Amino acid sequence: MANETVFDQVINRKGTASAKWDYVDTLYKGNDLLPMWVADMDFQAPAPVIEAIQSRAAHGIFGYPTHTASVDKAVQSWAKRHYNWDIDPEDLIYTSGIVPTISRIIEAFTNEKDRIVIQTPVYHPFYDLVTNNKRELIKNPLIYDGTSYKMDFAQLESGIDSRTKMLILCNPHNPVGRVWTKEELEKLAQICVANDLLVVSDEIHADLLYEGFQHIPIASLSEEMASRTFTCLAPSKTFNLAGIQTSYVVIKNSVLRAGLKKHLTLNFMNMTNSFAELVTEVAYNQGEQWLQELRAYIQGNEQYVRRYVETHMPKISLVKPEGTYLLWLDCSKLGLSANERKKWLVEEARVALNHGPMFGKEEGDAFERMNIACPRKTIQEGLERIKKAYVQRGF
Ligand SMILES: Cc1ncc(COP(=O)(O)O)c(C=O)c1O
Repeated sequence: MANETVFDQVINRKGTASAKWDYVDTLYKGNDLLPMWVADMDFQAPAPVIEAIQSRAAHGIFGYPTHTASVDKAVQSWAKRHYNWDIDPEDLIYTSGIVPTISRIIEAFTNEKDRIVIQTPVYHPFYDLVTNNKRELIKNPLIYDGTSYKMDFAQLESGIDSRTKMLILCNPHNPVGRVWTKEELEKLAQICVANDLLVVSDEIHADLLYEGFQHIPIASLSEEMASRTFTCLAPSKTFNLAGIQTSYVVIKNSVLRAGLKKHLTLNFMNMTNSFAELVTEVAYNQGEQWLQELRAYIQGNEQYVRRYVETHMPKISLVKPEGTYLLWLDCSKLGLSANERKKWLVEEARVALNHGPMFGKEEGDAFERMNIACPRKTIQEGLERIKKAYVQRGF
């Protein structure tokens, strides 16, 4: 292939204890399924990151790690370069994953039966984070106009009462792919400030943007927003490091920050692993060029899928993504129920997508989420499988 890039290389992930590849048939009860589900990429991390891991591993001693100040500088510089956001090293708390961190934030700063708002359809663990902690889940469904999504501010405002304490924001939004604009974030911020809501802003997809889009941390909008926001970030989606479990929270409010630190310590969650800070530092300091190429590649994949679907499967349409490497496919015109569609994809097309209802029973009923962070050849294979099943059904 002309102009082949590192991202075109198909690397066998089977037999590497990969959830995406080794667990797929069990989870989906299928046979030889092509995995286009869970949000990790079929690409190797940037070479300097792999080399740093190899060199640390070669040392051979994996005792308890301590914090190294140089990672703070890397994080600080990344936030400035990519989000034009000034953060201080003291604003940072390093953790072993965003989902467990959000759970601890909910525990530490809300009480049982407090109400927490999420904007659906949304990354499915948000539901469990609220309900497993015995908080009441309040849905603020996004409005879908047939091509894109926007926030429903009126519904949000009317649903807030004295028991509503927190909002969990997803920006960029998984699964609908929105990168919220300054205007949208300002309106949301105004409602949160007026109602004294704490905000957990999950910005894990912040670096995975399509051309022309800019990530804005909601905490960067004003002092008032900074003082009530927990911004959860990580290099894990950006550089494909989820298995290393590394993340961090930016908290400008010293009282909230001290509160979370104390809570993490009480729960013995105040330490990361030997590779966590290392990969964060190296990826942020040396991964810039790789990320630019990745973004272009993903954008190319999106265009490829769009054209293919428009040409061969016109009853499926793509919600145009602004960020993330996840596509949200509107399958409403297929005329199948959610369960029938799930069965059709697994048994006839033999692909594993994330089934829409997991992101919201009604909101996701007619949708499937497709992960396109893989070589173009894998995309082609997945689309051909779906097309064959589509034609066989006579859609
Ligand atoms: C919005 C969002 N938050 C968090 C995560 C997972 O974060 P972690 O692996 O750090 O818990 C994902 C993974 O897909 C995600 O999409």
